[in-house]
Amino acid sequence: MVGWVDQRTGASGFLTGMLYRKVPKGTNWFYTLGSATLFAFVVQAITGVFLAMFYTPSATQAYPSITHINNDVFLGEFVHGLHKWGASVMIILIFVHMARTFFFGAYKYPRELNWVIGVVLLILTLVMGLTGYLLPFDQRSFWATTVANNITATGPVVGPYLADFLRAGPEIGATTLTRFYAIHMLLIPGAIIALIFAHLYLVVKLGTTAPPWLKADKPKSALPVDRVSAGANGGGNGAAPPGISRRPSNE
Ligand code: HEM
Repeated sequence: MVGWVDQRTGASGFLTGMLYRKVPKGTNWFYTLGSATLFAFVVQAITGVFLAMFYTPSATQAYPSITHINNDVFLGEFVHGLHKWGASVMIILIFVHMARTFFFGAYKYPRELNWVIGVVLLILTLVMGLTGYLLPFDQRSFWATTVANNITATGPVVGPYLADFLRAGPEIGATTLTRFYAIHMLLIPGAIIALIFAHLYLVVKLGTTAPPWLKADKPKSALPVDRVSAGANGGGNGAAPPGISRRPSNE
């Protein structure tokens, strides 16, 4: 079955290339922060799907549906808790991952585009936090969103328009809730998934940056030309392949 799928997709070549790619010497735990962020995102996506099965994005039903999830649904409080704490975990991890790539100089040529994609991922992750905060529609989320919306409105040029768009009406209310819900569970996750694919494609294509404390190997002293192997990696001992003379004969 696996062979059948592989023959038709060539997936094993892709997976082998990705999983067995070379990484620089000295790679350490700091390099797992990107994967940890990815894991946090996957947890958010899975728990979010289960929450969406019981949540109602309406001004009158949002809060009761969250209470129902917490009190009545099997493992509801646990899944809700995972999603709520997972949001903070993902934001912490994304910042630490960004700090790692910054301090290791991984934003420099040729990885600038991956850094830019990362910045967009960071903004989208923060927007996930902002839009998710309103969804329980209790006092805290209502007033926190009111404050965030007022701050957005003070932004230069686009600020007032953006705040109007997010509020979806003269004040925060039922339409704001449905708008935030659509942004939170459709628009931004879709964009994040697409950008994570682009991000990981570039990680595999460009390779990983070596740690900054790693000194480059000293260049090996040059061998006389007639002792250099004809092999592509120069790993030979200078012995000529059978039947071929090393030195061109001038006689
Ligand atoms: C959803 C958010 C993100 C995910 C899932 C993610 C995932 C990853 C993974 C798995 C790697 C390879 C392993 C590693 O170096 O840790 C990586 C590398 C990288 N990431 Fe992210 N990342 C995210 C956000 C960001 C952000 C916010 C930035 C910077 C603004 C960023 C910049 C980079 C760069 C420059 C590399 C290449 C590192 C190198 O060559 O050593 N990423 N990312």
